[in-house]
Amino acid sequence: MAVEIGIDVDLLRSEIQKTYASVAADPETERIFPTGRAWAEDLDYPEELARVPEPAVESFAGVANPFSLGRLQPGERVLDLGCGAGTDSLVASQMVGPGGRVTGIDMTPQMLAKARAAADAMGAENVEFVEADAERLPFADASFDVVVSNGVIDLVPDKDAVFAELYRVLVPGGRIQLADVTIQQPVSEEGRRKIDLWTG
Ligand SMILES: C[S@@+](CC[C@H](N)C(=O)[O-])C[C@H]1O[C@@H](n2cnc3c(N)ncnc32)[C@H](O)[C@@H]1O
Repeated sequence: MAVEIGIDVDLLRSEIQKTYASVAADPETERIFPTGRAWAEDLDYPEELARVPEPAVESFAGVANPFSLGRLQPGERVLDLGCGAGTDSLVASQMVGPGGRVTGIDMTPQMLAKARAAADAMGAENVEFVEADAERLPFADASFDVVVSNGVIDLVPDKDAVFAELYRVLVPGGRIQLADVTIQQPVSEEGRRKIDLWTG
């Protein structure tokens, strides 16, 4: 175990995978967090959302809109950290165009399967999806111009490891466009041990 958080990290990982496998398989089920196209539209997603196929967007589970921090530029190499079913990757793929490249990583295979199917349906040839852990990225140093991430780092036990990896894989002067959940007060020991508070 790399970091002491008062919880079994292997159990946490498998509960997170269970939660998001179910968001992939049963997108219609009501949850404590919002999902789907109507939610992305509420967040003022850019016009590229319209071309993203339904199998991706129905399992969109972001917490905010990372593109509100700025549009991506043609030719950029983008990492979508915790891409889920691929909505942000497929928005990004349209922004960076054929000269750019988008790599989505996620640890939940059911989400990645939906992302790959949606990329095929859209004919997006500049996107790939890789199964990986955000704490250990299988990429060379300085291989991306920009990282987008939406609702993922709050789920990861070792946040220092994630940021170390992001700084490593970004080029010097690269950008991080992060949408995530933050807290204003320290969480109690008891709260930290409640797996449901981590997974949702
Ligand atoms: C709230 S969902 C957001 C998915 C996507 N970014 C979106 O906006 O729809 C969180 C995603 O992060 C993934 N995830 C959580 N912890 C992860 C980790 N340590 N490494 C890689 N992916 C992780 C989950 O599998 C899930 O697909």
